[in-house]
Amino acid sequence: MTRLSIISAATLLFVGVFLLAQQKQSPQATSAALDKMIAANRSQKELAQYVFDNHGCKSCHTVGENGKLGFTEKGKQLTNGFEGCIRMLTAMNVIAQVPSNQRSADQKTKAQRFDEFGCTLCHQIVPGKMGLSVLGSKLSNLHLGCVDVEKQLASK
Ligand code: HEC
Ligand code: HEC
Repeated sequence: MTRLSIISAATLLFVGVFLLAQQKQSPQATSAALDKMIAANRSQKELAQYVFDNHGCKSCHTVGENGKLGFTEKGKQLTNGFEGCIRMLTAMNVIAQVPSNQRSADQKTKAQRFDEFGCTLCHQIVPGKMGLSVLGSKLSNLHLGCVDVEKQLASK
């Protein structure tokens, strides 16, 4: 191994450990917490903040202004080679149609990161459509999807 590849392997390991340490909470816990907040008449913005804080968003994003989310320093590093949420989901819709043993190395990495970044907790990749998990469907009904969270948090 060259020195460089040792360093990049170490970096990957570090990023992996960092992401694991950030492990998002269970769908049930989020679902229950949101129900409580709704019963207590908490605002849509508070609900969005809850999702943002507990589902990995804050490891990459800062609560932006002017209608957009910003990026954390760690986020900027983590996003190295990650093209952002919208392109990631678009790419996954294509990758989902390729059987896993026929995927290219790049496609495998993308699918793995989609999982590591916590996206699969809410998104289920079903070829040709936007699949959602139980929690994902609930959040969709509550208008707390990724774009809604951005809108809520980035508006004053
Ligand atoms: C691994 C880092 C990472 C994580 C985790 C992440 N994002 Fe992103 N997100 C990005 C990057 C990078 C972009 C791309 C920005 C671009 O293309 O200019 C992006 C783009 C977005 C956009 C589109 C922004 C725009 O206005 O064009 C939204 C909305 C968004 N993220 C919401 C979320 C939400 C909500 C979560 C948590 C459920 C989340 N993101 C988790 C890295 C991340
Ligand atoms: C806590 C649940 C949750 C997590 C975690 C999550 N999402 Fe989402 N996301 C949603 C929901 C709900 C929607 C809205 C879907 C709908 O209503 O059709 C959405 C919408 C989106 C959209 C907009 C799609 C569109 O066409 O409007 C993108 C892009 C997206 N998510 C990407 C990601 C990526 C990439 C990740 C991982 C970094 C991620 N999401 C993590 C719940 C989540």
